[in-house]
Amino acid sequence: MEKPADTRDTADTTAAAAVAKHSKDEASPSPTSTPAKKPRIGSSPRAGSSPAEVAASPGSAPFIADLNPDATIEADDAASDAGYESDSASRASTSICSTVRDYEFENNRRYHRFQEGRYQFPNDEPEQEREDMKHAMIVHLCQGKLHYAPLDHPQKILDVGTGTGIWAIDMGDEYPEADIQGIDLSPIQPQWVPPNVSFMVDDAEAEWLIPPQSLDYIHIRHMTSSIRDWPTLLSRAYRALKPGGWIELQELKFQVKCDDGTLREGNMIQNFYETMESALVHFNVDLLAMRHNKKNVTEAGFIDVTEIPFKIPIGTWPKDPRLKMVGLYNRSMIHDALYGVAARPFTRGLKWTLDELEVYLVDVRKELTDGSQHGYMPFNIVIGQKPS
Ligand SMILES: C[S@@+](CC[C@H](N)C(=O)[O-])C[C@H]1O[C@@H](n2cnc3c(N)ncnc32)[C@H](O)[C@@H]1O
Repeated sequence: MEKPADTRDTADTTAAAAVAKHSKDEASPSPTSTPAKKPRIGSSPRAGSSPAEVAASPGSAPFIADLNPDATIEADDAASDAGYESDSASRASTSICSTVRDYEFENNRRYHRFQEGRYQFPNDEPEQEREDMKHAMIVHLCQGKLHYAPLDHPQKILDVGTGTGIWAIDMGDEYPEADIQGIDLSPIQPQWVPPNVSFMVDDAEAEWLIPPQSLDYIHIRHMTSSIRDWPTLLSRAYRALKPGGWIELQELKFQVKCDDGTLREGNMIQNFYETMESALVHFNVDLLAMRHNKKNVTEAGFIDVTEIPFKIPIGTWPKDPRLKMVGLYNRSMIHDALYGVAARPFTRGLKWTLDELEVYLVDVRKELTDGSQHGYMPFNIVIGQKPS
């Protein structure tokens, strides 16, 4: 196992520290002032909330109506990016605990060994830190909610592509009577976890051995850049769920959007995502597959399928303090991702050299420091229920 027990216990501080290294900007919210892992501002929706209520009610589910997540984000005219260190974060390292048996190394990064080559991104410590930061960002965006499906005393929960297991562990705390299992290609989850949480190395795109009609809830997050065949995955999920069980997909859309005309033509972050999209084609992955999530979930047989759209700002430009914080997380998350996520797809898929990649990334990093562009990324949550 990769991390000592106390590493997971300090996930909040890890994520906050990762953000903090990017921001000495006093105009930005202090990352350490906000509990990143569990900002329990609201609670996750429980049974009895219909999807319509989930998406609209300010009473039992005060998250959507209060957030108005899809509204135009007001910019903070006083926002400043002073102190942002654009070249200090992307670093390659290897874990002293890793073994050659479990991992493979390339581009000075570490990758999974089981089903080698299936997932194009690293699984080393810097990437794990970044994934934990992404978790903190999403939970903060969702005001502490770990899920939007209205769960009713769930007994068995599956987290597909659990990564560092941080969501599964939080769910284990929130639902102590449920069994939470996370599966992943990489054995990077901590050893010491709540007694109701377990992890297994498995390929979600292989035949599922989970007994039919045995699960209450399946959670799939940040998998759009991994999964090749969504309809097959969703039909397996459908079979594994009990009647009345819920599925939830939470996915970023890797596109830079803007509502106020400040985005420059030829924005390099957008260019990076477009280049990544063409690189992943070589691995049979559609980077923008999440745009079909609602349709795919519906076609798999789920009912009451609801899509909840959010906007995740890039940078500290929003006026709203929560979105400013989310934007800070996102900018750090993108910055830290660049080399690691591009190395394999761009070299193996597009046949770039690492030198070409490094030169290209200089301009992408520069773009991230430009606070005059009010860019954001869509983030959509889709929930659906298996008919009773
Ligand atoms: C971007 S991370 C997301 C982690 C986690 N879902 C989260 O939101 O924190 C994607 C994870 O999916 C895993 N993965 C990718 N393809 C997979 C597959 N076919 N089966 C199981 N896990 C997979 C990767 O190893 C990686 O840990």
